[in-house]
Order: sequence, then C-alpha cells, then structure tokens
Amino acid sequence: MSAQPRVFVTRRLPGDALERLAAQHDVEVWPERLPPPRAELLGRAPDLDGLLSLLTDPVDAELIEAAPSLRAISNYAVGVDNVDVEAATARGIPVGNTPDVLTESTADLALALMLGIARRLAEGEAFVRAGEWVTWEPGLMLGRDLHGATVGIVGYGRIGQAVGRRLEGFGCELVTTRGSGGVPLDELLERSDFVTLHCPLTPQTRGLIAAEALRRMKPTAYLVNTARGPVVDTAALAGALRAGELAGAALDVTDPEPLPGDHPLLDAPNLLVVPHIASATHATRGRMADIAVDNLLAGLAGEPMPHSVNAEALAGRATPQAP
Ligand code: DGY
Repeated sequence: MSAQPRVFVTRRLPGDALERLAAQHDVEVWPERLPPPRAELLGRAPDLDGLLSLLTDPVDAELIEAAPSLRAISNYAVGVDNVDVEAATARGIPVGNTPDVLTESTADLALALMLGIARRLAEGEAFVRAGEWVTWEPGLMLGRDLHGATVGIVGYGRIGQAVGRRLEGFGCELVTTRGSGGVPLDELLERSDFVTLHCPLTPQTRGLIAAEALRRMKPTAYLVNTARGPVVDTAALAGALRAGELAGAALDVTDPEPLPGDHPLLDAPNLLVVPHIASATHATRGRMADIAVDNLLAGLAGEPMPHSVNAEALAGRATPQAP
C-alpha cells in the first residue's frame, strides 16, 4: 500500500501547478492527448484518494462507487456537468471547480464569435486564401452590425454579466431572463438580434434551445453558444440553419463534442465553429490549473476547497448517516 495518497490527473496541465501537487502526493498524470478510456479510469479507481478530472471525463456514480478511498474530486473546469455531484456528496466527497478565472476570457470569446459570424470573418478569410477576391465591391460579404444590436443573454451569472459589460461598450440593448428587468425566454428569443448562451448544463437547460425556441428567433438573428453543447438541440439547429430560420450560429461547444468531420451540422450554412476554446489563453488555463490543484490539495487535507460546488459534502463526511 502506498504511503502517500494516490492521485490521478487525467491530462497534463499547463504551467507548473502539478509540481505542487506532486510535491505532496503520489501523482500519476495520464500522458496521452485523448482522455483515459473508461476501463482505465475504472481500473485505477480502487486505489485512488484524489482525482483531477477534465470536462471530457465522466466521473459518474459507477466510478465514484468503484473508488472506496476517494476523498476529493477536482474538475479542471467551471462546469461540473461531467461529474455526478449528487453521488459524490452522498459519499462526503467534495467536488472542486475553477470559476472566476475564466470569466473574462470566455466573455472575450463570446464577443469574438458574435463579431466573427455577423461580419463573416471565417468566410472572408477562406475567400481571400482561395484567390477569389478580385476587387472591392459594394455588395461583397455584407454582414450585420453588433453595435447597437439587441442581445439576449441566456444565463446571467458571472460570464453572462461579463459579456453584458462588453456589449454595453458596443451600445447594445441587453435582454436577460434574470432580475427585475428580466423577460420570459420566449420574449428574449423573439426580440434579440443575437442570442448568447451562458447557462450551466443541467437537466433544466439540456435541449433548452430546440426547434420551437429556434423558430422564435428572428430570421436575421444569430445564436452563439459558449456554454455547453447539449443546451442546443444539434439536429434542430442544423435544420434551422438550412431552412434560413436564423442568420447564423457561432459555436464554441457542440453536441456531440468533438463533432466528427462528417457530421451533418458542419454542412449547414452560416455556421462558425471552434473547438471549445473559450478559456484557452495561456494565462487563464494556467490559473485554472492552480485552482484545480489548490482544490485537490485542500480536499485531500480534509479542508474546505477554495472553490467547491458541494461544500455540504464535508459536513456529510463528519456526520455519517446511520445505516
Ligand atoms: C469550463 O470551464 O467549464 C469551460 O467550458 C472550459 O474551460
């Protein structure tokens, strides 16, 4: 049996945060580019005290049950939809996440996607590179303005508000479903020139933007998703783009993720898609690694994590339930 707690980290992380973890614990880092296969995770589970997971790793009830010594899960993401938090809490296992540090980078990318799709940046670049640009033309690549537009922000938490702050600088009218000035989702969809998604993936938000919601959007409006792919019904979105029911969509996240190269969504018109990079800056991914490691160190020490989505887990551990 190992003297130090055993920790598995499901991918290499940017920066030197993992060195701090390895200084205190017996750490193994999955060396591959692709996530550890399910069998690998389940095979390691019986020996694990701590797990540092990515959003690509399902940390479900089966895995948690297979890990009787597990006492801390740290997810390298703000979203924890890949973790069965209820199952972890029932076992008294704190689950950490990485909020705040990625808020501004994610908001930056949401704005980049809005501008990119409405001003046809990817299309324009491909056009120039293909040698198709022969002259300046009054009607070449006309798009739509972000400045002065009405933007519906679905999910007005940290990231939604950071997007809102940026859009105020663009003179946009903001519509949200939250707070005293909030409107019902249907009204937000009907009024907005851009609809940008910033809600977590939960049973309530899965498929929130499906065929009916898309039909409510203006045919001149754009959908932007930097939240989670399954918030949008992929088949319905592809259908709406093909039918011209909306002007375009810009996606950082998709369902499935990654999209296979031959996925029908990729043939839909007016689609800008990037590979889940909203938090992908050197600084932000480094800060996420620091927080993920801080969370795991605290959890393994039996202390409250700096950022946990189930602070009640520790209390549960202190007072075991009678059988
Ligand atoms: C998150 O943290 O949830 C993002 O999707 C990736 O940084």
